[in-house]
Amino acid sequence: MTTTSTERSLDRASRIDQTDFRHVMSHLPTGVVAVTGVEPVTEQPVGMIVGTFQSLSLDPPLATFSVARTSTSWPKVRSGGRFSASVLAEGQDGVCRSLSRKSGDKFADVAWHASPDGSPRIDGAVAWIDCEQVQELDGGDHVIVIARVLRMSTGPGEPLVFHKGRLGSYRDPIAA
Ligand SMILES: Cc1cc2nc3c(=O)[nH]c(=O)nc-3n(C[C@H](O)[C@H](O)[C@H](O)COP(=O)(O)O)c2cc1C
Repeated sequence: MTTTSTERSLDRASRIDQTDFRHVMSHLPTGVVAVTGVEPVTEQPVGMIVGTFQSLSLDPPLATFSVARTSTSWPKVRSGGRFSASVLAEGQDGVCRSLSRKSGDKFADVAWHASPDGSPRIDGAVAWIDCEQVQELDGGDHVIVIARVLRMSTGPGEPLVFHKGRLGSYRDPIAA
C-alpha cells in the first residue's frame, strides 16, 4: 500500500495541519452559491460566496452553510433577516470573483433582480432559494447558519463547480 506525503506528515505531527486539511477537502467538489441580501440601514445589496450551502431538512425546509467568523459581509446580510441563495451557473466565475472580494463595490458588475422580499437574486443562476435566517451554531472558526427556505425556483443551464481550488463546470473543468 502506498503512503502519500500528506499521510506521512499527519502521522508525524499527530494533528491536522490546516493546509493539509484544505488540500484534502479541495478534492470534494462543491457548488458556488451567492448569499445576498439588503443591508437595512444603507439599503444597499450585500453578499458573499459560499461553497458550503446545502439542504439540511425537508420538514421543516431548512438549508445550512458555514461562514468564517472573520466575514464582514455575513453580519450585513444577516441584519436584513431575509436573503437569497443563488446557485451560480457555469461561466459565472466573474460573479464569483466579484462577490468574494473583500473590498470595493461587489455588485458593480453583477446583474441581479429582486426576490419578492427584495433580496438580490443573481441573473443567470441555475437556482434561487429565498431564505430567512433562524439559527447560528458554533462551528469553530466558522459559524453554522441554519435558514428556513421561504420559496425557490430554478433556471436553465449547468452549475459552476469549485474543485481543487479551481472554478470549472460540471462537464469540463476550466484551466486556472
Ligand atoms: C468558491 C468559494 C467558496 C467560498 N466558500 C465560503 C464559505 O463556505 N464560507 C465562508 O465564510 N467564505 C467562503 N468563501 C469566501 C467568501 O466568499 C468571501 O471571500 C469573503 O466572505 C469576503 O469577505 P467578507 O465577508 O469580509 O466580505 C468562499 C469563496 C469562494 C471563492
